[in-house]
Amino acid sequence: MKESHYARIEKNIESFPSLPSTVAEVMSVVNNPDSSAKDLTQAILPDQSMCVAILKIANSALYGRPKKVSSLETAITVLGFDEIQNIVLSRSVMNSFGSIFDRNDEIINNFWDHSFTCALAGKVIAEHFSISSPGRFFIGGLIHDIGKLAMLLTFPEEYTAEKWLTGLSTGKKLEEERQQFAITHAEVGGRLLQKWNFPESLTNALNFHHSPLDSPENHGFPIIVQLADVLAHLCSTYEKDEIGDIESAIKKLVPGIEQTWHHFTLPWEKLRLEMWYNWVVIERQHGSSILAILAY
Ligand SMILES: [Fe+2]
Ligand SMILES: [Fe+2]
Repeated sequence: MKESHYARIEKNIESFPSLPSTVAEVMSVVNNPDSSAKDLTQAILPDQSMCVAILKIANSALYGRPKKVSSLETAITVLGFDEIQNIVLSRSVMNSFGSIFDRNDEIINNFWDHSFTCALAGKVIAEHFSISSPGRFFIGGLIHDIGKLAMLLTFPEEYTAEKWLTGLSTGKKLEEERQQFAITHAEVGGRLLQKWNFPESLTNALNFHHSPLDSPENHGFPIIVQLADVLAHLCSTYEKDEIGDIESAIKKLVPGIEQTWHHFTLPWEKLRLEMWYNWVVIERQHGSSILAILAY
């Protein structure tokens, strides 16, 4: 009997390689309130390429420091524990799909460009609401669609990059995905993070980024990733004059989004949406070097 799609993806998630040991160590140091910058340095030092990436990011234009950061310990002080954790998690997740990067494929590059734009949008929105550790929203956005990559690896013939990795996953497309593969990329992403022991808030953000109302938690993480996803899609697909009114464009792509925001008692304001969109367009131009550092 032919193995069902569900069984195949289950098996593939199970056999997906673990993340490097640095990840678990960094998470445990960051989540221990008694840890020092020295402890975090020790946890990262064995991973030389991670050290180099962190130094590059600490010295990047995004953090614009007049003096060059040359030691890991200083980089940790400059960026802070949360930001370091975000870099380690982002880079490790991206590297675990390294075999896909090698294809040097335009669709894959666009996929990461979209993911990175979503990461910037998530951070911009979280910062605007003064939510603690907005960097969580950066990583949530960066990896929100990794389930698609796992599907691509599991069903190389059927889950074609042309169809499934491009464009926004609207209600109709998600339904089609579930019908054809018995699971959606959002759920696959959540399962992967669960397997990797990521914090529950992040697992939920992935799992429910297309259905925030189903999230068991009542904070706005999934809904912010959902909006960030739409903003990223608008930024990278159209010119501003093609979009016209940002609010109408968002509502057209995700009907009911305003009501969902009200459900989470988040303010929905036309002006803010315009502002976030404009910010993301600008940040996107500055931040592309970070994506390159995270990915290689
Ligand atoms: Fe998605
Ligand atoms: Fe997306």
